[in-house]
Amino acid sequence: MRLDKMLSECGVATRKESARAARAGSITVNGTPVRSADVKVDPAVDAVVYCGTPVRYRKFFYFMLNKPDGYVSATEDGRDPVVTELLPEEYRRLGLFPCGRLDKHTLGLMLLTNDGVLSHRLLSPKHHVEKSYGFTVKFPLSSADIDALEGGVDIGGYVTKPCRVNLSNERNGVIAITEGKYHQIKLMMEAVHNQITSLERLTFGPLSLDPTLERGEWRELTEEEITLLNQQ
Ligand code: URA
Repeated sequence: MRLDKMLSECGVATRKESARAARAGSITVNGTPVRSADVKVDPAVDAVVYCGTPVRYRKFFYFMLNKPDGYVSATEDGRDPVVTELLPEEYRRLGLFPCGRLDKHTLGLMLLTNDGVLSHRLLSPKHHVEKSYGFTVKFPLSSADIDALEGGVDIGGYVTKPCRVNLSNERNGVIAITEGKYHQIKLMMEAVHNQITSLERLTFGPLSLDPTLERGEWRELTEEEITLLNQQ
């Protein structure tokens, strides 16, 4: 693979930047400066150092983000800020996209990746990956409401699959669903004549929102977390 392709796929440098760095003698391959960025390298074998920093070749990237209020789950939007803007510039050219959507006013755990195959699997209805959300509703929920929500409610012609609801008091709780219809939880609460007033995703499959991440903060997933996701 060409050195400049490797560096751009890793989010280290654009092809132009690599060409400039190579001319300046700032890229080494196996300890030797290269004069041109179009030389061939084997990412699995060759040790590439860009401007003093060793480069680890990866095709796929995985981030956990604590989504703040007001951001839309998209890579571009004419009106509102998008979640990918919360990542630094060098990561934005990796082709990252949100793995599933959260509404503009929903907070919490959002995964961003450029791994389309994994994302597709995690979101596929066939795989039943569970996501849990902390919620607050406007009116008290009765035990009949909980039974209805857990058994499945009609949200505009679709009956939701069984889910779990645990209340901490009559207006707050955690709901765990294994599907991801548009506005699902809002519509489920409306189906029992209630209204969501706040919603925060707490878990996605085996992953929990990292409590050290403030709203708008992100971190890369660990190797262990990526392995867990791939086992879903
Ligand atoms: N359900 C909703 O209604 N909104 C979300 O953002 C996620 C699940």
